[in-house]
Amino acid sequence: MPSLFDPLEAGALHLKNRVIMAPLTRSRAGESRTPNDLMAEYYAQRAGAGLIISEATAISAEGYGWKDAPGAYTPEHWAGWKKVTQAVHNAGGTIVMQLWHMGRLSHSDLTGMQPFAPSMVAADAEHRSVHKPYEIPRAMTLDDIKRTVSDYAQCAKGAIEAGFDGVEIHGANGYLIDQFLRDGSNKRNDMYGGAFKNRARFMLEVTQAVVDAVGADRTGIRLSSQNGVQSMHDSDPYGTFTHAAAELNVFDLAYLHLKEPLDADIALSGIRNVFKNTLIVNEGHDGASAQRYLDAGKADAIAFGQKFIANPDLPMRLQSGADLNMPDASTFYKGGRDGYVDYPFMSAVAAA
Ligand SMILES: Cc1cc2nc3c(=O)[nH]c(=O)nc-3n(C[C@H](O)[C@H](O)[C@H](O)COP(=O)(O)O)c2cc1C
Repeated sequence: MPSLFDPLEAGALHLKNRVIMAPLTRSRAGESRTPNDLMAEYYAQRAGAGLIISEATAISAEGYGWKDAPGAYTPEHWAGWKKVTQAVHNAGGTIVMQLWHMGRLSHSDLTGMQPFAPSMVAADAEHRSVHKPYEIPRAMTLDDIKRTVSDYAQCAKGAIEAGFDGVEIHGANGYLIDQFLRDGSNKRNDMYGGAFKNRARFMLEVTQAVVDAVGADRTGIRLSSQNGVQSMHDSDPYGTFTHAAAELNVFDLAYLHLKEPLDADIALSGIRNVFKNTLIVNEGHDGASAQRYLDAGKADAIAFGQKFIANPDLPMRLQSGADLNMPDASTFYKGGRDGYVDYPFMSAVAAA
């Protein structure tokens, strides 16, 4: 069985170890939504990861919906992202961009537009950065669907041109693709709603378009199986996500990335059975549980979120059994350097 520190070939991605940096929104791009030098520094610090998955990045102005998060749909955004990919590559890292459309979790205060979604079902919560209730979205027309599918592909193409090694389609956490997949948010009665096959259609069209744009071997996708996250619900998460993975299997993707709480096995065993390429698993892991998953054949690599926020040199710390810095949640979305690029490396601790 592989060690967490063994390399892994995932499609065209060469991972030097199996300690993956999970996608992490950090709200450092400012009002212009443009990646900057500070973000380049942050990502380069974490280049020891087998793979860095970027924070969720808006594929279009319509898809935006989180204050100070980055976009990838203007020349300025792309110029900013080039600095990030260069800094990561100079530091020996590998990085993919997470492609994000927020659907009903967007807000007109941020976009000037009524959010759209599969159906007119509002998320039952308060918007994370606007601090108002989520709006009732309008139901996407077939033209909206076509345009949005093409936005994903355009953005994926731009990401490769900007130096990313690949892209991850964000199908998790209650955003647009997840809204289509689950019967709690998808009430359509056309070819995009109803039976599972129809609810998966949007995800499959996006995946096909992205694969056509950049190649399956540079395309990954993230799904999350748990109910209750960002007011998402599905009546049969095992069935829905096992089916999703089976349908995705035909693309020969670089990887599938499943967010599912440690030891929950909501859909993991089903997904592992039907998805034949690299499977990255995330949520709640430490070094020991990660190795246990690899040993049991439940995953090929493990992504770490909060531990990567607080430990830029996480792979080295896990390998040497060193203590970990603790993350400070009050600085996750605060802006500025504090709690972003100032977590100490092991070498700094040893020298102190
Ligand atoms: C501050 C913060 C920002 C996050 N941003 C994203 C994101 O942009 N995209 C995404 O798919 N998940 C996001 N997540 C979820 C993480 O990728 C990960 O699934 C979660 O932290 C659980 O993993 P962990 O237990 O290793 O921290 C975020 C989580 C946190 C704490």
